[in-house]
Amino acid sequence: MRVLTGIQPSGDLHIGNYFGSIKQMVDAQKTSNTFAFIANYHAMSSGNGGERLAQLTMQTATDFLSLGIDPNKSTFWVQSDVKEVLELYWVLSAFTPMGLLERAHSYKDKTAKGISANHSLFSYPVLMAADILLYSPDIVPVGKDQIQHVEIARDIAIKFNNEYGDILKLPEFKVEENVATVPGTDGQKMSKSYGNCVNIFGEEKKQLKTIKKIVTEQVALEEPKEYEGCNVYNMAKLFLEEDALLDLQKRYKAGGEGHGHFKLYLADVMWEYFREYREKREHYMNNQNEVREILQNGASKASEIAQPMMEKIRSATGIRY
Ligand code: ADP
Ligand code: TRP
Repeated sequence: MRVLTGIQPSGDLHIGNYFGSIKQMVDAQKTSNTFAFIANYHAMSSGNGGERLAQLTMQTATDFLSLGIDPNKSTFWVQSDVKEVLELYWVLSAFTPMGLLERAHSYKDKTAKGISANHSLFSYPVLMAADILLYSPDIVPVGKDQIQHVEIARDIAIKFNNEYGDILKLPEFKVEENVATVPGTDGQKMSKSYGNCVNIFGEEKKQLKTIKKIVTEQVALEEPKEYEGCNVYNMAKLFLEEDALLDLQKRYKAGGEGHGHFKLYLADVMWEYFREYREKREHYMNNQNEVREILQNGASKASEIAQPMMEKIRSATGIRY
């Protein structure tokens, strides 16, 4: 089964990104033929460009490789290294009714907020359709906010196939329902835009400082504490095996320790959990050429699928004459 996903290069990764998305991708490598790319063209629609975009692209690639994307199991590349995607984007534009894009949330939300949208934001779903349809995946795992984009890709594929035959495979989206929303330091959903993130790769001291900011109930030290609903506990449970979790529950119930102790424990557990990944990252940071090489190989592998597909589309549409 072929699974495909795109990742926006948007900066430092937090533990919400890890448990909500990256870990699923890494786990999927065991059972599926996984395709993952860094969506650098997409990032331009939200104003990223220049040296910053180049740097974010390398950082994101480095982080994903460090966290377990295995280039021997997955095809991992940068979107802009396989140019067929832009050609398909144009072809698909001719099968995209304006109304379909006018109804897209990503564009509607921005314009509703008074943000003046540029054309790349408007046509973002068409590029995303090209990303998907070029590689004929069976499944596209997405967060809820991206479901509509996969549906748009299906609609466009149906219109294209009606005209030119059964060339494009209709993708299915998959939303991982049992992935809990990871809370941030203030208890809301962890998100870069809320400034409540615990980042995966940061200095130990800085991480501890962030963890100390987690909002908790005020309960006297000697009193028993409630772990259900506690932001520290909810974060810690992401990292703990069952036995360790039961131990932590007992410590909450026993009293005699404050939330400060649990925060120190969380910081330790998290530091240990990511130790191996940090070491791998250190290696890749010191060997950025290795990362570039992996991405180039990934792009070659992706091209082996993209090129014949695009040839088929050129023939069908009369671009090849
Ligand atoms: P952010 O909200 O920090 O900008 P993104 O929107 O870039 O994060 O999210 C990238 C991926 O990480 C998405 O697949 C999203 O579903 C997942 N993700 C982000 N925040 C969380 C969270 N708090 N809990 C679970 N998953 C999350
Ligand atoms: N739009 C997706 C996001 O913001 C990223 C993305 C781009 C993507 N192209 C894709 C995801 C193709 C899945 C398939 O998260």
